[in-house]
Amino acid sequence: MVKICCIGAGYVGGPTMAVIALKCPSVQVAVVDIAQKRIEAWNSDKLPIYEPGLDDVVKQCRGRNLFFSTEVEKHVDEADIVFVSVNTPTKTTGLGAGKAADLTYWESAARMIADVSKSSKIVVEKSTVPVKTAEAIEKILTHNSKGIKFQILSNPEFLAEGTAIQDLFNPDRVLIGGRETPEGQKAIKALKDVYAQWVPEDRILTTNLWSAELSKLAANAFLAQRISSVNAMSALCEATGANVIEVSYAVGKDTRIGPKFLNASVGFGGSCFQKDILNLVYICECNGLPEVAEYWKQVIKINDYQKNRFVNRVVASMFNTVAKKKIAILGFAFKKDTGDTRETPAIDVCKGLLGDKAELSIYDPQVTEDQIHKDLALSKFDWDHPLHLQPMSASSSTEKQVTVVGDAYEAAKGAHGLCIMTEWDEFKTLDYKKIFDDMQKPAFIFDGRNVVNVDQLREIGFIVFSIGKPLDAWLKDMPAVA
Ligand code: NAI
Repeated sequence: MVKICCIGAGYVGGPTMAVIALKCPSVQVAVVDIAQKRIEAWNSDKLPIYEPGLDDVVKQCRGRNLFFSTEVEKHVDEADIVFVSVNTPTKTTGLGAGKAADLTYWESAARMIADVSKSSKIVVEKSTVPVKTAEAIEKILTHNSKGIKFQILSNPEFLAEGTAIQDLFNPDRVLIGGRETPEGQKAIKALKDVYAQWVPEDRILTTNLWSAELSKLAANAFLAQRISSVNAMSALCEATGANVIEVSYAVGKDTRIGPKFLNASVGFGGSCFQKDILNLVYICECNGLPEVAEYWKQVIKINDYQKNRFVNRVVASMFNTVAKKKIAILGFAFKKDTGDTRETPAIDVCKGLLGDKAELSIYDPQVTEDQIHKDLALSKFDWDHPLHLQPMSASSSTEKQVTVVGDAYEAAKGAHGLCIMTEWDEFKTLDYKKIFDDMQKPAFIFDGRNVVNVDQLREIGFIVFSIGKPLDAWLKDMPAVA
């Protein structure tokens, strides 16, 4: 029986290993983490992450060939294949701060693997890492290994949160990079054999290590670039009277471009896009490619511009001040069908409005009150440094300005404005007439996800701003400068 151990029981480690366990009953999978609470949650009825279909997969294999444990060293020692799926955040201090990937967690995992292993192993990079990381990891392993052989593979994960289980069941591709030596090729084959139990062979791509590492950064950069491209167009649409929905539909009909990932919004979020592009920018700079670095940096700049633009639009429309005005925030997660708030644009928008002294009433179907307060109190990039974080509470000023409520109607009651930050399906079918009746007048809706029916809401009496759609007379008279 092949034994797999995965270090890091997070958004990637948990679902990927659960699916491997489900699809490969002859493989024994242990997912280990230093975060005891997270492991306890994986072993309980309330899993630590919300992902459609995940509960079902875990229930089918947990205790059979899927185990969650804090006994990191024991399971690493017993495994044939060790996946490493720990955090690779942006560095906050020192060389490359604000751009380079912080490989502290990765390095300590590698040193531990070398320390505890008594048999040869395949070590798989599952985390997204800078290109050439495998070389550094190889050095750490071989210099500390007491003669044991390690083969390093790069097997980046392409799942998207919210559809992780579907993506893992039916991936566009699985990418495995390894050394071009007989041992490297043997290791590639061993991992390929695992995936081949449910993924068609022609979707399992094998490359050299550096291509696999770089492909993950490139894929995220391309995806984020599409969003920034359509968001840049959304600003021009508002300025000219074009409608971004019509423009992106027409553009996406070109088969060379395709229709997916062309929705304009308040900006992209999630733990990966910004971090991975900053990392790419840093790598380009280190390789003497400033023009290439500048090109990718622009994707982040447009994303920041889009979030600022949204805040400015809200404030400018409401007579240039939101001080002491109640603003309802619908949705806080970075996208629908997840409770993940890492780098969600809602954080920047809320901070912008709080900076203008607004009083926020926030509702999200999956995000807890505690999480929202923590997110609004954290500094940029600090969210992904679990080991360094002190237990903390929200600053008292934020706590006074922010309430978190249990439904959209309560959030909107008595509010001057309502901002939609996440495209949860339930926001499409709210009783907006009831919401209008309960709000201060004039009542404003700022739709950062293009989920509402603008014409219907205008008929009810709302002043409506929806990203990239033609402005009504009110908004034209109150221009927002980003
Ligand atoms: P996460 O923060 O949810 O999980 C990482 C886990 O690793 C944490 O539970 C942490 O306690 C644990 N950990 C850190 N150091 C450890 C150590 N030395 N020993 C044992 N456990 C340790 O992060 P997530 O989202 O799962 O991401 C992991 C990696 O996968 C990152 O590199 C990320 O860029 C990449 N990735 C993330 C995707 C996503 O959608 N979240 C998609 C594709 C890749």
